[in-house]
This record gives sequence, C-alpha cells and structure tokens, in this order.
Amino acid sequence: MKFINLYLLAVTTILFVNCSSKQEVTTLKDAYKNDFYIGTALSADQIEEKNIKVDSLIQKEFNAITAENIMKSMFTHPQKDKYDFALSDKFVAYGEKNKMFIHGHTLIWHSQLAPWMEKIADSTEMKAFMKDHITTIVSKYKGRIKSWDVVNEALNEDGTLRKSVFLNTLGEQYLVDAFKLAEKADPKAELYYNDYNIEEPAKRAGAIALIKKIKEAGGKVDGVGIQGHWRLQSPSLEEIEKSILEYSALGIKVAFTELDITVLPNPWDLKGADVNQNFEGSAKMNPYPKTLPDSVQTQLAARYASIFKLFLKHKDKISRVTFWGVYDKQSWLNDWPIKGRTNYPLPFDVNLEHKPAYDSILKLKKTVE
Ligand code: G3I
Repeated sequence: MKFINLYLLAVTTILFVNCSSKQEVTTLKDAYKNDFYIGTALSADQIEEKNIKVDSLIQKEFNAITAENIMKSMFTHPQKDKYDFALSDKFVAYGEKNKMFIHGHTLIWHSQLAPWMEKIADSTEMKAFMKDHITTIVSKYKGRIKSWDVVNEALNEDGTLRKSVFLNTLGEQYLVDAFKLAEKADPKAELYYNDYNIEEPAKRAGAIALIKKIKEAGGKVDGVGIQGHWRLQSPSLEEIEKSILEYSALGIKVAFTELDITVLPNPWDLKGADVNQNFEGSAKMNPYPKTLPDSVQTQLAARYASIFKLFLKHKDKISRVTFWGVYDKQSWLNDWPIKGRTNYPLPFDVNLEHKPAYDSILKLKKTVE
C-alpha cells in the first residue's frame, strides 16, 4: 500500500512539473524573455499614452523601448542654448513605470538636426557642440537610459564615411570623440554604433573597420545596431548570419534595432524607374490599399519566422530585437519612399490585431523554458 502511495505521488509530481513548465506563452516579451529584449519604437502620442488600447498592447508585448523621433537632436536641442526634454522625460518615465529597458536614439546623426546645427562650419564650434550635446543629454539620463545609439548612419553604401557636417568639420576623429564623450557622461551605459544595410558585405566591412578604429583609439563600443529595414526576399539569411558572427567576433553585442519588413514594390527596383518620378497615387506602387492578400501575409509570416529562428540560434550574441513601431498604422513605411501607401511591415495590423507574422514568431517558442 505504502509503495502504491509513493508511486502515485511520484507520478503526480512528474505530471505537475511537466504541466507547469509547459505553460503556454501568450506574448512576445514573455516568449523571448530568456533570449533577448523584444522592443518597440514609440511615437510621441504613444509616449503620452493617448490611446488606451495601443498602450495596453505596448505593455503586454514589449519589454524595451526606443523613441521613434522625439530624442533626435532637432527636438531635444532646438537652439544652441536651449534644450527641450519635456517629451524625453515622459519617455524615460514611461519605461521606468513599466520596467522596460530604455534605449536612447540618437546622439550624433546627420539627419533631423536642428537648423542651427547645420550651420556649424568650423572644428572649434563643432567640438564645443558635440561636448555640450552629448554630455548634457547622456548625463541627464545617467543610469536610466541603459544604452545609446551614439553615432547613427555614418556610412555610405560602399562602406566609406558619409560626408556629413561632422565629418566635414572634424574628420573621422568625430567618431572617437563621440564615444569618449558618451562614456565619460555615463560610464555604465552601453554604447552602440547604429546603421542600416550594415548586413550587406561592403557596408559591413566599413562598419567593422569603423568600430575597430574607435576601439583602437580608446573609445568604448559595446554593440552594433543593425537597423533591419528589410524586404521579403532580402537580405539573405546567410548575410544576416555572417553579420552576427563577424560583429560579435569584435567582442561586441549585436542588436536589431529598427526591424520591419516592407511588402510593397520599391521604385528603385523597377527597371528604368526614375526615382524622381512621381509615384504618388499610382495603383501599381500601392497594390494592397485595403487589405493584404493571404498569399503575401503567409510570405511575411514565413520571413519573420526564418529571421527569428536565426536570431534564436545566435541568442547568446544578440541583446535586443526592436520593431520599428508598434503596429502597421504607425509605420514610417506608409510614407517612404512614396507618400500615402498602405504597408504591412509589423506583427500587429492597423486594428492592433496580431497577424500571422506574430503567430509565427511566437510559435518558435511554444513553451516557456
Ligand atoms: O510631426 C510632423 C507632423 O506635425 C506633420 O503633420 C507630418 C506631415 O508629414 O510630419 C510629421 O513629422 C514627420 C515625423 O516623422 C513624425 O511622424 C516627418 O515629416 C518625417 O520626416 C519623420 O520621419 C521619421 C524619419 O525617421 C525621419 O528621418 C520617421 O517617423 C522615423 O520612423 C524615421 O526613423 C529612422 C530612424 O530614426 C533612423 N533609421 C532610419 C529610420 C527610418 O527612416
């Protein structure tokens, strides 16, 4: 009798342990909690919690946030002697309130500069600007913003340095200076170089050379941000994997910082297409204005699944995967490279419903480990 009781106890225990460890996962952040952060980019309205439904989706699905626009220099530093932190304070408070990993985007970027910055013409003035700008912003959020895109998009497609206002005034030393200033302002913050298309061979070689140079000159680079503005067919998984391996071989973390996948035709891919031609309102260039056909929906789901499968294979090298937006309605890809189209690049649709792409990402992690 005693033996039977012990046997029953053992069977029940095994069943109980199995059931509780095989708990069904229901959200992206829970599913991937042991692998890497799952982030999203917030618009100003989302930071201000203007829509309850959007807000509850953000809190449910994501554990890392980036500001899509409001921390760019034209907003935080509109005049030489004037900073505006009203929205970035709210952004950081939002992340803290919801126990999210907070990423800063971005400190040194040639685009979305305040007009006064574009007029800086000599090295003394530019050095003073960089010191003031980086020190003020990074110190303000010291210990709260956990990682920064210190330099954003410094490279051309062929891997050479972009002729920005920073390069023109300071030469390539500006890259080293930026990382040194950021480290000084918050020694514990993780510092990233962030760019698009740096999974492509030529640009990747440029990014690797750039990161090596900064490190050799004494700058602290903790990671590379591969933006991940991708398409259904490209880049290949092979190039993405090579990139993960080659960047992490530099002793840095790899983050996918602005992930989205366009399903629309690109004017540059059309033979003989003149990019300056006006494609706005063209049905050919906006093929799914109302709904995405099932066949394309399935392709998008398969593409996301294969990408996340690769990310999981290299989870030890990946710190964060951030989608560039919460849902399709908000995506910048509705207005670029052609204004006013309907694109479907994210896992949540225009009504905040999850798409087959979402299910395919979740399916890779059926159970909580
Ligand atoms: O705020 C105005 C609004 O008042 C006005 O009604 C509207 C009319 O078009 O424009 C609004 O500003 C737009 C802003 O996004 C906010 O939606 C700007 O025109 C538009 O240029 C701006 O685009 C942003 C873009 O960066 C600027 O370069 C996108 O939202 C943002 O997603 C995009 O993000 C960049 C990353 O920072 C860096 N990597 C590439 C990525 C995609 O371009």
